[in-house]
Amino acid sequence: DFGSLAPKPPLGWNSWNKYGCDINEAKIKAAADALVSSGMKDAGYQYVNIDDCWAELNRDASGNLVPHRTRFPGGIKALADYVHGKGLKLGIYTSAGSQTCARTMPGALGHEQQDANSFASWGVDYLKYDNCNHDGTPAKQRYQAMGTALAQSGRSIVYSICNWGEEEPWIFGPQVGGDLWRTTGDISDNWNSVLSLLDQQNGLEPFARQSGWNDPDMLEVGNGGMTTTEYRAHFSLWALLNAPLLAGNDLSAMSADTKAILTNRDIIAVDQDWGGSQGRVLRDLGNGTQVWGKPMSDGSVAIVLFNRNGSTSTITTSAAEIGLGGSSSYRLKDLWSKAESTTSGSISASVPSHGVAMYIVRREGTLATPPAPGTYALGDA
Ligand code: DGJ
Repeated sequence: DFGSLAPKPPLGWNSWNKYGCDINEAKIKAAADALVSSGMKDAGYQYVNIDDCWAELNRDASGNLVPHRTRFPGGIKALADYVHGKGLKLGIYTSAGSQTCARTMPGALGHEQQDANSFASWGVDYLKYDNCNHDGTPAKQRYQAMGTALAQSGRSIVYSICNWGEEEPWIFGPQVGGDLWRTTGDISDNWNSVLSLLDQQNGLEPFARQSGWNDPDMLEVGNGGMTTTEYRAHFSLWALLNAPLLAGNDLSAMSADTKAILTNRDIIAVDQDWGGSQGRVLRDLGNGTQVWGKPMSDGSVAIVLFNRNGSTSTITTSAAEIGLGGSSSYRLKDLWSKAESTTSGSISASVPSHGVAMYIVRREGTLATPPAPGTYALGDA
């Protein structure tokens, strides 16, 4: 819808990174249950998103999509009711082509209104619209057709554009009613993928806005291919980018470390705060260490000291470098250890290989009242 349904980057879970096509009703319900029992819902997570492979290969005689008969026997409406009953929202997926990427179900190209109407009638709250198996029609046209269909469906449905950054979705996305748009190809559960996605965000900062978010793809935190240190860095940097935070792991079997990462409220608050720009690299020190920063709406600055190299490194910045000069004293909060300290301007940390240190830095005496837990959820200014 046109710029009002995702005033903050969506927070939730999506089935793809963990399960691929191997999904069913029980797994989606288990994810909803675990969002609640893990405390993630209380920390702000809201969407339970079904990705590819939820429908039968063929439409019915009237051309309607049919939920997969053995894997989703209760249908999507019942699943939406279940998810809504937990105070959560349901997301679904299709492609702007003849079939989805996995080729197990029809895409919506040429059936946009019929499919949008199905989603609306089932109580779906969010659509991820992929880019596979299309006919060469320019993306803007294909994504416009679905944007219009959603707007006419009679239900408010968040519109997630999954054009992989191919045809400048950051330009056409806002014009077709997109609330967020993928900037790249797919993430995978390894460190090089995280680095590559991060580097591809460089230069896209001006295109992010409230209700129009750059999406560097979903989270891999907890899927096992990276270390806890690497997952902390992944989560910290995605938050600094105001990225949608869609967990992609098995929420019903999380380690304590994984849960602590996904429920770090200080970092979620950075993600949900709009201070006029998403985060960016402020300085690359040339030895695999970087200083990243993002203005916060209360005048403080969120920073990430990022160590991409192979050994522990001391990374140093200053209040002036992060745009906060002019004070004799600054308050730092370490968003991982929660330690608070005071500095006259120098900010320095010993950062492990592939790790981060993340802080909120503020001029002393300008501390705004922090929001109460939960009040940074959607809709809050
Ligand atoms: C490609 C998308 O980029 C992925 O996120 C996922 O939705 C798959 N397609 C599903 O086939």
